[in-house]
Amino acid sequence: MDTAHPSFPILVALFVLLLGVTSSQPYEEFLQCLEFHDSNITSIVYTRANSSFSSLLESSIRNPRFDTSATPKPLLIFTPRQISHIESAIRCSRAHRIQIRVRSGGHDYEGLSYSTISPSLTFLVLDLRNLRAIQVDVPSKTAWAQAGATLGELYYRIAEKSSILAFPSGICPTVGLGGQISGGGWGTLLRKYGLAADNVLDATVIDAKGRILNRASMGEDLFWAIRGGGGNTFGIVIAWKIKLVPVPATVTACTVTRTLEQNATEIVHRWQYVVDKLPNDVFFMVVLNSVANPVQANATTIQASFNSLYLGGIEGLIPMMDAKFPDLGLRRENCVEMSWAKSILYFAGFPLNSPLESLLDRTISATGSAKFKGKSDYVKEPIPISGFEGIWEKLKEVGVQTGGLILASYGGKMSEIPESSIPFPHRAGNIYQVEEVAFWVEDGVEAADGYLNWLRGLYEYMTPYVSKNPREAYANYRDLDIGRNGGGGEGDYRRARSWGSSYYKNNFDRLVRVKTAVDPANFFRNEQSIPPLSSWR
Ligand code: FDA
Repeated sequence: MDTAHPSFPILVALFVLLLGVTSSQPYEEFLQCLEFHDSNITSIVYTRANSSFSSLLESSIRNPRFDTSATPKPLLIFTPRQISHIESAIRCSRAHRIQIRVRSGGHDYEGLSYSTISPSLTFLVLDLRNLRAIQVDVPSKTAWAQAGATLGELYYRIAEKSSILAFPSGICPTVGLGGQISGGGWGTLLRKYGLAADNVLDATVIDAKGRILNRASMGEDLFWAIRGGGGNTFGIVIAWKIKLVPVPATVTACTVTRTLEQNATEIVHRWQYVVDKLPNDVFFMVVLNSVANPVQANATTIQASFNSLYLGGIEGLIPMMDAKFPDLGLRRENCVEMSWAKSILYFAGFPLNSPLESLLDRTISATGSAKFKGKSDYVKEPIPISGFEGIWEKLKEVGVQTGGLILASYGGKMSEIPESSIPFPHRAGNIYQVEEVAFWVEDGVEAADGYLNWLRGLYEYMTPYVSKNPREAYANYRDLDIGRNGGGGEGDYRRARSWGSSYYKNNFDRLVRVKTAVDPANFFRNEQSIPPLSSWR
């Protein structure tokens, strides 16, 4: 026998070891590992062979763009009921080299909480749907909320106990607290109280070693990083302790729509000079899109929908808007008084008489069956009239209601919080945030490419009018066009720095230092997670 060469079986074993492939069915060994830690655990594991696998996976897919037969699927879905289940999942995933994608509400714009761009990646979805307990403590104006809870569930539980407390987080009720706060979290209270992540007091996190940490034991660096530095990067957030903020028992929500024929261009242009200087009690959003022309058959026009929330009654709002923004022509009939919790339903597009319980519905979808892609920008100087006229041309290129821009007012509290306070850096100097978005219902790659190219063209068009060096972007509106790690999440510091500075500006390097300290082996990762410094090639 020739001993100079290893035998064929040894070669195969070496090959298998090098590739990290431990079995043709890696989940079998993973399951054995889980069972070793907890004999009852397999009831919360759904493999592809399980009849509920597809419905469970799809139930929290909020962008149908990533719900096709070609979308890479997880090997299994794991739905922990207690923290020890997550500890076991982390240990076994490490041992069997199965990547973890954490999912709370499933709203990731690029589907990274339940999918990947890499078809060969072996990964599991750790779905936190069963960890959604919420405890509201009115006397201390605080709450503990588990990461698998939705914003709607949180708002409902707060409203159950108090009509004059709220939490400054997002508008869409089905967004999960896990992803939302990990990336910032803005909503109608941002000019008064800042972001959701600005109002976090403590958190329970499991790190890559499986340690359960709170603010005191994780230290201020990690506590800083998890409040806006992006999900699936530093550990798994189990729960947040949040500060509740005071709101009046009655708030006023208003909508005014104007088309081009009703002077929309001039009013939107003027809005930019007013909106960041209004009292902090006013939030203002403008949605711009192409609609059927109400006065001319078979023609389209551009509609600007001005949606505002005022922390007070109509009596206080109308004279103030008449004085500060008369161009809008706000009238009482444009406005409705309601509780703050009900105003979430208003902004989310529910009919006015919807019961507050609608906030608890985890199945509703803000985008229906439409696939979408979003991009984001920040505006620091008003866009000239000619700039808006070019935007109208772009909007007319796509079908009615399929593409649009959402402008959300900044200023107020957002300008008072230092850029380095938490990883979210987009503060003073911004008049408003822009989301450029495309929606479509058609199936197939060709249709998708058409809308994606249109959106990229709109984004290109916006270049002279938005922030530069870096061109800033909102981490929670994840956009893989601006850069990404490798398909398996392998990061390269230098490459990541370009998209990292867009999301985090000068906070990016501190995020890398925290990542290097808490997860040097890059266990928690995805296509846009912060890489550790060891990745510097
Ligand atoms: P999802 O579960 O997909 O998680 C998003 C990211 O966070 C993934 O990388 C995931 O792995 C990670 N993650 C999730 N849970 C985690 C945990 N417990 N620990 C660690 N990492 C975790 N934003 C906003 O600020 N204001 C708004 O009003 C809205 N509205 C809105 C409406 C709609 C229809 C969509 C699709 C999205 C928004 N968003 C938003 C954006 C939203 O904030 C963003 O997509 C969040 O990351 C979604 O959090 P989910 O938990 O729902 O997503």
